[in-house]
Amino acid sequence: MQQQKIIILDFGSQTTQLIARRLRELDTFCEILPYNKFPVGDPDVIGVILSGSPFSVHDPEAFKVDLTQFMGRLPVLGICYGAQFISHTLGGRVEKADSREYGRAHLETVDTSNPLFKDFDQNSQVWMSHGDTITAIPDGFEVIGSTKDVTNAAFWSPSPLGEGRDEAPVFAVQFHPEVFHTLQGTLLLKNFVVDVCGSRQDWSPANFVDTTVAELRKLIGSDRVILGLSGGVDSSVAAVLLNRAIGNQLTCIFVDHGMLRKNEFRNVMKDYEGLGLNVIGVDASQKFFADLAGALEPEQKRKIIGRDFIEVFNEEAKKITDAKWLAQGTIYPDRIESLNITGKVIKSHHNVGGLPKEMNLKLCEPLKWLFKDEVRRVGRQLGIPEHLIGRHPFPGPGLAVRILGEVTPEKVRILQDADDIYIQALRDWGLYDQIWQAGAILLSDVRSVGVMGDERTYENPVALRAVTSTDAMTADWAHLPYEFLAKVSNDIINKVKGVNRVCYDISSKPPSTIEWE
Ligand code: XMP
Repeated sequence: MQQQKIIILDFGSQTTQLIARRLRELDTFCEILPYNKFPVGDPDVIGVILSGSPFSVHDPEAFKVDLTQFMGRLPVLGICYGAQFISHTLGGRVEKADSREYGRAHLETVDTSNPLFKDFDQNSQVWMSHGDTITAIPDGFEVIGSTKDVTNAAFWSPSPLGEGRDEAPVFAVQFHPEVFHTLQGTLLLKNFVVDVCGSRQDWSPANFVDTTVAELRKLIGSDRVILGLSGGVDSSVAAVLLNRAIGNQLTCIFVDHGMLRKNEFRNVMKDYEGLGLNVIGVDASQKFFADLAGALEPEQKRKIIGRDFIEVFNEEAKKITDAKWLAQGTIYPDRIESLNITGKVIKSHHNVGGLPKEMNLKLCEPLKWLFKDEVRRVGRQLGIPEHLIGRHPFPGPGLAVRILGEVTPEKVRILQDADDIYIQALRDWGLYDQIWQAGAILLSDVRSVGVMGDERTYENPVALRAVTSTDAMTADWAHLPYEFLAKVSNDIINKVKGVNRVCYDISSKPPSTIEWE
């Protein structure tokens, strides 16, 4: 049986990915596609969701979709702009709201006999965020939910093309069911995908592993595959999954660029060997340090590391002369063709390896449909130890982007020691799993005065960063206990030669980013 799916058409809202995450939590597979890329004719699609958007339907550049591609044949749910677009296109009216409707509201009337609101409480809290409001709904539609200020907060038509035609319903909600503050939002989405669209809810880690292993065997046959390991969760899970499918036909390459955490290369190699993976470890640190000498700018450093990485990886990969495939731990958020309205690049991200073109390798990305939390669930299903699965994300360029300015082996040593004290303490205090990511940053261009014993010191500060997040798109600084910070500060200053001051970074993303460079 084929994999059922819901299509989420993206009109550029910041919460589009959240809709997808909620559906996946309902064990339902879904794909986010640009608003104008509906896969006409795909028999596996069981429903369509139209996302929000930064545009007003009246903006000349507003994104538009041809509703006739699916309306009436497949159930549709329009969210915020999606709802406004449905109303505007089908003959309703959308007008500028007197004031932006933003924040909590309550569904003072809600039709619980409607399939979308089955089991809903009266007065349920919802989250509004829109500048336009729907002042008239199209003919044939009926209001099924209202708040104090928004009469047409939810409406539907059981047969949008008119009775007797294809009869898949259309629903539209002004509020955002995908955000946490809509307290029964997941129930609404469940009612839509399960009751209305008929999701079998069979998207589970066990199911994913079984079907992917079978598909990989079929795809790869007796070919040889190369995979670049980074020590992170994604490439590790991809490797173990492939290993389960094709065993020793898989060769993994793990490049040490010299800017990993303290003892990370050794420990991770041991873990990989314990998992039965066939891994080649390459110590290329000298090359990276030599090429980074004199590089000061973050983007310049990132570019050098990215280039060196590909060179070293390719050099190793070439030795496996009969390889036909390059496998990568790419995950879904890396690939979603999100509508970046501004089109600006903040940082160039480098992940493991680039496709060695002259080798003519085919690309294999077994995790390409998974969100991070799903990768972790699949990893657990595969029996990967918890300390590997629960590991914080770590940037491809490693400590190089946590040493401000030029990178040298000595600075890396200092930062590794400070970072190690910090991370170990987070584990000892039971805080590690409560945060998304933590690390130390060496402010190597800054020196300040201190005193140790009777001696004056003139050394560098270290900044500690810890953030909470669900996807690294936004993040808040973690409110770590003062006693913890006091102990870590003390230990770092006493034990790490070269550091005489410790600061804690209390910036959120945005406007700051998680990494300092
Ligand atoms: P920023 O600093 O942009 O980081 O807020 C967001 C997330 O991405 C990680 N990061 C990287 N990951 N290669 C990676 O694989 C990179 O070049 C890179 N730069 C940043 C960062 O650690 C955080 O989790």
